[in-house]
Amino acid sequence: MCGIVGFIGKSNALHFVIPALYRLEYRGYDSAGISVIHNGRVFVAKKKGKISALTTYLSEVNFPSYANLGIGHTRWATHGEPSDYNAHPHTDSTGEISVIHNGIIENFLQIKNQLKHHSFVSETDTEVIPHLIEEEMKKGKDPETAFLDALEKIEGSYAIVMITSKDPNKIFCARKRSPLVVGIIDGVGYIVSSDIPSLVTFTKKVIPLDDDEVAIVSFDDVKFLKNRQRIYKQPIEIKWDIQEAEKGGYRHFMLKEIMEQPHVVEDTMHEILSVWDEIVVPKYSKILITACGTSFHAGAVGRIWFESIARKEVDIEYASELRYKDKDFQDSLIISISQSGETADTLEAVRIAKEKGAKVVGLVNVLGSSLSREADLVIHTNAGPEIGVAATKTFSAQLTALLLLALKLAGFQKSHKIVDELRRIPEKIDRFLSKNNVQDLAEEVATFKNALYLGRWISYPVAEEGALKLKEISYIHAEAYPSGEMKHGPIALISQDMLSVFVMPYDRIFKKTFSNLQEVIARKGKVISVITQGYENLLPAEVIKISIPQTDDLLSPFVSVIPLQLLSYHTAVYLGHDVDQPRNLAKSVTVE
Ligand code: AGP
Repeated sequence: MCGIVGFIGKSNALHFVIPALYRLEYRGYDSAGISVIHNGRVFVAKKKGKISALTTYLSEVNFPSYANLGIGHTRWATHGEPSDYNAHPHTDSTGEISVIHNGIIENFLQIKNQLKHHSFVSETDTEVIPHLIEEEMKKGKDPETAFLDALEKIEGSYAIVMITSKDPNKIFCARKRSPLVVGIIDGVGYIVSSDIPSLVTFTKKVIPLDDDEVAIVSFDDVKFLKNRQRIYKQPIEIKWDIQEAEKGGYRHFMLKEIMEQPHVVEDTMHEILSVWDEIVVPKYSKILITACGTSFHAGAVGRIWFESIARKEVDIEYASELRYKDKDFQDSLIISISQSGETADTLEAVRIAKEKGAKVVGLVNVLGSSLSREADLVIHTNAGPEIGVAATKTFSAQLTALLLLALKLAGFQKSHKIVDELRRIPEKIDRFLSKNNVQDLAEEVATFKNALYLGRWISYPVAEEGALKLKEISYIHAEAYPSGEMKHGPIALISQDMLSVFVMPYDRIFKKTFSNLQEVIARKGKVISVITQGYENLLPAEVIKISIPQTDDLLSPFVSVIPLQLLSYHTAVYLGHDVDQPRNLAKSVTVE
């Protein structure tokens, strides 16, 4: 969840580390810090707050303005509150070793006990790492051996980057269940980072580290080690454009990403159809979908498609729950969905299922990510980099991939009539985006403290996604229910202080949802409904209507989710919240 970066090369490290930190800020933004080696000495600066607080601080203190080697960290607190002293980098007692870390050191208390003679200045788990390395160096070991020996004493998950004045020409990196990538900047040097999207402005040539691998990066070489043996790794090419990672004139990344959805559906569809005949789904007798958050909601829509289109029985489990289930995964096909491909819960669930005999199809947006490397079959959701913490365009890309996968599992050709309807979806989303009344509703939505999102069948997972979006960036409490469940309890909450958002395209179950809407109106609840254009008159006058273009019943999530994304976006903007970096959240959740 934290973002880490390091640079070594012919140019000024600060010109890489600081911009990369801004790019990584979506991974954590409660404190930040950097460290460089200058004239043989380690310098550290760190500050509570966003990267901008750090850069202001740097301009006020006497920090070296030039160095060929440096590291940086943006923090999402796990152990110890956000503060200057808990911010990374952390140093050893001598100040000669500087370390940044993403992950959790599970045995940090035991290590602290063993290192009683050291004084610790933070409440973090990370701080034990430089002290452990210091202990190893005191035994006369060189920095590389000390680094490797210290790693053996650490339990938990980590991406660790260390620099030391004892060997000022190297960056020492290690990965265990937390992502880390080495980027090659031809003719300049190397940049290491937590994720691929943060590197697109610097290079398109990257080498992701696998678990238990170490990289010793020097000015003109990277040495990769596994079990202390040298290994050789080939770079992969990133296909994303630099412009895709910029705001492109929009006020927020989230709005830009919402607006990109027509072409994201188009691009994902195009990419999958272009390799249609090459997609060979591994053999299976059972199918299980697993994911977290928005990706889970896309999976829940996908499950309905697998059942309706491919006539397959499908289970779905939150990845964070799957591992505790006593399941037999022999002959199972796990469909694992992840934008980042680095979500710790998702990766762990996949690994457990694989160990027990499952084959894995990974629907992933970041090629080169852990999931894309561990899955047996990768289906790329071609959404481009998603920077806003609240997922939007990747949901649409995931829907596209899942729909096509359902057709594949059904054994249909790409000429199937559902593909024809899918081809019309981008224009329909575009039509809605270019003309809608959602922004006008923000002021009223902002007055509510609670909201229910209601929908049946294929609209229920869309309601779940809408509720998640409102919670995430507007901080308004929102819960989703299948609308038929409302009368079994939640209806007790209905009053004029409760907002109900009904997702009710005019489909085969419209009349049932309509009855539930009447029950809310009868109890003086405030209602917003997302309804198919042309059917608004069926609803009572007091209902606020958001009209969406008509589509096939099965494809309605593509259009019904868009107003829900916009509703949360405009409400959050109206309330003055930080839309792209909402409190307490990070883009990639790389801790369990
Ligand atoms: C979505 O808005 C959230 N930020 C979050 O729920 C996210 O979808 C979840 O953490 C899963 O991430 P992934 O798709 O990268 O695995």
